[in-house]
Amino acid sequence: MSAEPQTGSQNGLTKSPAWLALQQHFAKVRERSLHALFAEDSARGDRMIVEAAGLYFDYSKNRATDETLDLLVHLARQAGLPERIEAMFRGDKINVTEHRAVLHVALRAPKGTSIIVDGENVVPQVHEVLDRMAAFSERVRSGAWKGHTGKRIRNVINIGIGGSDLGPVMAYEALKHYSDRAMTFRFVSNVDGTDFVEATRDLDPAETLFIISSKTFTTLETMTNAHTAREWSLRALGGDQAAVARHFVAVSTNAAKVAEFGIDTANMFGFWDWVGGRYSMDSAIGLSTMLAIGPDNFRAMLDGFHQMDEHFRTTPLRQNIPVLMGLLAVWYGDFFGAETTGVFPYEQYLKRFPAYLQQLTMESNGKHITLDGQRVDYSTGQIYWGEPGTNGQHSFYQLIHQGTRLIPCDFIAFGQSLNPLGPHHDMLMANVIAQAEALAFGKTPEQVRAEGTPEWLVPHRVCEGNRPSNVILAERLTPTTLGKLVALYEHSVFTQGTIWHIDSFDQWGVELGKQLAQRIIPEIASETEPKLSHDSSTNNLIRRSRRLKQSGKPRASGP
Ligand code: F6P
Repeated sequence: MSAEPQTGSQNGLTKSPAWLALQQHFAKVRERSLHALFAEDSARGDRMIVEAAGLYFDYSKNRATDETLDLLVHLARQAGLPERIEAMFRGDKINVTEHRAVLHVALRAPKGTSIIVDGENVVPQVHEVLDRMAAFSERVRSGAWKGHTGKRIRNVINIGIGGSDLGPVMAYEALKHYSDRAMTFRFVSNVDGTDFVEATRDLDPAETLFIISSKTFTTLETMTNAHTAREWSLRALGGDQAAVARHFVAVSTNAAKVAEFGIDTANMFGFWDWVGGRYSMDSAIGLSTMLAIGPDNFRAMLDGFHQMDEHFRTTPLRQNIPVLMGLLAVWYGDFFGAETTGVFPYEQYLKRFPAYLQQLTMESNGKHITLDGQRVDYSTGQIYWGEPGTNGQHSFYQLIHQGTRLIPCDFIAFGQSLNPLGPHHDMLMANVIAQAEALAFGKTPEQVRAEGTPEWLVPHRVCEGNRPSNVILAERLTPTTLGKLVALYEHSVFTQGTIWHIDSFDQWGVELGKQLAQRIIPEIASETEPKLSHDSSTNNLIRRSRRLKQSGKPRASGP
């Protein structure tokens, strides 16, 4: 659908006073350049920042005036954002299509606090699981937990997909600096057998522990990989089923399925239906993270999450970092028609952060039906993408600088490197700051000419600027900082979903592909030619795959 703002909203958003005011305002400010905005107000870069929870958030290089921000905050109030925040933290069932509370904030609520779901305080349950995770982690890390043959565990493989993989992978990579380097951590998610084979090919099964991470414990990819892992272990460990108890633990909400798989539920770490998969990296789904960095660091990460939760819950909207980020995303997506947001961490350890954010943002806000069941007539959920800096600069940044699309960017950087090495970090920081500056202010024809550029080449070398960005700075990447960053994006997603009046916590769209795959699996696997009744393209693709599988060679003609 078009990203352009449209009229005739069925749920009233695009006819609402706050939206109409923003539309009028947009007509006035859309052509105003960042150059002009900074020239008019030399203190803009001092004013349009927020420092909170140890983060420095500079939003001055956005194509927005103070009035824009005021109007966006007005939109947030009109959408009931303060009340929605309270409702989420209170444990109301705001995931309406699944009739569930949305309480990832409870996962990092300090001991002694209280959040009631269905009449029960869930915080003690959270800490009970955390304590069990910590005890287990200590045993594995110390070598007290032995494998079936008596060898200590040196390798941990998390098997999961989506939220049961992306968070653990991202957190492991992000916090590798704090991890036990004597241990090997791997992550298997894809149902493509290559993923499993490559993750295990150099490992000794006697030293390998599998964490089967699946909220439902029914996900096709995860269960297929889990069964393959069990065979791989048992084959090497003499086929003794008792080995499973020493080499497999589960993280799930589904104890019955865990037991059915053969994992002792004493080795199961639970969580709850009020934790969405993409909001679960700080639940027991983070067991691999805790094994890698230790319980104290894991708790420090939870504290970071909680600090951002408190900032989000208690800070006035106009100074609230996730709220501002979320509102600016709405501003670009719904008024400027931006389709994507680039996220560029200038920190190698955050190389998987953009991939993690893709599920968080796009599975959450990729919706076109409102909470009231109406079709939206505005754009929702942008496409998030990114790579660590400075690599992206030598690849796709060209399009951001001089292409025809508007791509708002988030730059994330840290004052201190975890690996100080000669001039590297100063260069890294100079680059991230320079990119934000170059995108905003560009290079005028006069500046290009002053460099002695021949006239014919001038238009090619001009950078118009006016490309918006946020810059997020922190002291250094620590477990605490990582928690703050993730919570920042979680709450930005929530803010956006609240404005759009959608359910950011379900994911019905992914079900159809799963169902169809279940139907096609036997058609691909069948020994005899199956009778197919799909469309002509799908039928041909199935026939062609079967033939390729059998002969390795396609026929000269026909499907
Ligand atoms: O297919 C999407 C999804 O349901 C995600 O929301 C979830 O994170 C992922 O699958 C994995 O689900 P599970 O943890 O139940 O295996």
